[in-house]
Amino acid sequence: MTLLPPSFRALVIGSSGTIGSAFVELLQADKACIEVVGIHRHSEYPIDYRHPETIEAAAKTLSLGGPFQLIINTIGVLHSKEWMPEKKLADLNSEQLMDLMKINAIGPALTIQHFSTILDPQHSVMATLSAKVGSIEDNRLGGWYSYRASKAALNMLIKTAAIELARTKPNTGLIALHPGTVNSRLSQPFRGEQIGRPALDAAADMLKVIQNLGKEDSGCFFSYSGEKLPW
Ligand SMILES: NC(=O)c1ccc[n+]([C@@H]2O[C@H](COP(=O)([O-])OP(=O)(O)OC[C@H]3O[C@@H](n4cnc5c(N)ncnc54)[C@H](OP(=O)(O)O)[C@@H]3O)[C@@H](O)[C@H]2O)c1
Repeated sequence: MTLLPPSFRALVIGSSGTIGSAFVELLQADKACIEVVGIHRHSEYPIDYRHPETIEAAAKTLSLGGPFQLIINTIGVLHSKEWMPEKKLADLNSEQLMDLMKINAIGPALTIQHFSTILDPQHSVMATLSAKVGSIEDNRLGGWYSYRASKAALNMLIKTAAIELARTKPNTGLIALHPGTVNSRLSQPFRGEQIGRPALDAAADMLKVIQNLGKEDSGCFFSYSGEKLPW
């Protein structure tokens, strides 16, 4: 049996982003989706990982509207005005490492903590976008220290929470999801426009993966193609 019921309410976290907004567009056109709510830093119920208290506040407010059967968290950063991914060990610095940990690992973990309480205990899925470069086993090229480390930390947090939820909410699945290379703000400085796919294609593929998930898939790391990725 699949975790996602035939008709569901969905929440997209980070709906201002390229992939987040593609998920909202896709779900709005999906007959199985009764309602889709999108939240981001500047939405009605703001969520800002530089202000972790906003995570619990947004979850509390949204809990008043009843449970969600699908939550997709697309928040993540790779570069900023101040820095680009490190090419070598000499580029490592504590500010960049801490910032990426805060936004790519700590924020999503606290989101799982607070938003898993508004998931439907009967049937539900929470997917968090990770990245294949966060796979330790798959790391062949090196570089991008803080992005890789923050996504690896995120993967461990998802896996650990999935083990706990399997005991307390056995019909809820938590997964890490790799979107592939997508043409977006995040990939733009790395030839994203040339090598990335349209966000709507990536979101459609990821939605198929989500729709096919069973209980046994909780705590796994999936690619948009449905392939299970190594941690
Ligand atoms: N694009 C790719 O090729 C690719 C590949 C692998 C994995 N991913 C992952 O896919 C996810 C979505 O990426 P994308 O390509 O859609 O990137 P994007 O267009 O840059 O969107 C990033 C999202 O994260 C939000 N965000 C950034 N910092 C935040 C903060 N401090 N608090 C709250 N929200 C914050 C952004 O909000 P604002 O609009 O307010 O800035 C935006 O909604 C990320 O987790 C990324 O790591 C992407």
